[in-house]
Amino acid sequence: MGSAAEEVREHLLVDVDGGITATAAAGAGAGAGAGAKIRVQNLTKRSEATGEEILRGVSLDVPAGVIVGVIGPSGSGKSTLLRALNRLWEPAPGSVFLDAHDICRLDVLALRRKVGMLFQLPAMFEGTVAENVRFGPQLRGKKLSDAEVQKLLSLADLDPSLVSRPASELSVGQAQRVALARTLANDPEVLLLDEPTSALDPISTQNIEEAIVRLKKTRGLTTVMVSHSVKQIQRIADLVCLLVAGEVVEVLHPANLSHAQHPMARRFLELS
Ligand SMILES: Nc1ncnc2c1ncn2[C@@H]1O[C@H](COP(=O)(O)OP(=O)(O)OP(=O)(O)O)[C@@H](O)[C@H]1O
Ligand SMILES: [Mg+2]
Repeated sequence: MGSAAEEVREHLLVDVDGGITATAAAGAGAGAGAGAKIRVQNLTKRSEATGEEILRGVSLDVPAGVIVGVIGPSGSGKSTLLRALNRLWEPAPGSVFLDAHDICRLDVLALRRKVGMLFQLPAMFEGTVAENVRFGPQLRGKKLSDAEVQKLLSLADLDPSLVSRPASELSVGQAQRVALARTLANDPEVLLLDEPTSALDPISTQNIEEAIVRLKKTRGLTTVMVSHSVKQIQRIADLVCLLVAGEVVEVLHPANLSHAQHPMARRFLELS
């Protein structure tokens, strides 16, 4: 098993009762970020190797029940930003809030159940598709029924007949959709999607986009999605965040993307 799979496994770890539980100082940290599902406040990250700043004081409010698209040039810090939101790296206290709670003060396992993440490259665990989908709930002692597994696969645009296929035999596009079903099995409130459709064909891309919009409408799911496709962002996002060289340079309505002022953002949009 490679490190990517270990990271996914760590990400899917969940606590027993599944509730967000503030640690020792219960309630501390509440207040900041009120009104936003996720508030990022002056978030900074330096490369441990070079000391170079990867994120330079990023601030961003993600309202509940919306889809926020994050776009920007390669290396601008999009994945790094996403990974802070469920503590795949440890942000400084007071820089990321979920429902007005400083995520550093939340139980990390409960946080990761509420804030589900799909990685740029999907990592499957050994075993069948069904075993992959059942992974998160199983950690909490819950076994999803065959019907529940099939429903999750359908939601992720996969043929339910795939349940018994070894996950190692899937194409990258199929694996990405199994990873989506596996994340949704934890019934998250927030989905972090890192270029979720980059390995998918146009029909599957459309189906996944529709699923994300449907989850927003039916379950009030909040989504932060990194994408290289400006068109995709315009199709499904309610807000667009432009990240350039570790800085949020614009937050715009997708219809107003052409009004972006920042020169690098304009260049990026023109070439996309
Ligand atoms: N663990 C790490 N240690 C050191 N530097 C890192 C680490 N992770 C990312 N970086 C650096 O941080 C910068 C931002 O990387 P990141 O992966 O967040 O970019 P990105 O916007 O997601 O790019 P892409 O569009 O190519 O996926 C890059 O310069 C990268 O080399
Ligand atoms: Mg990335």
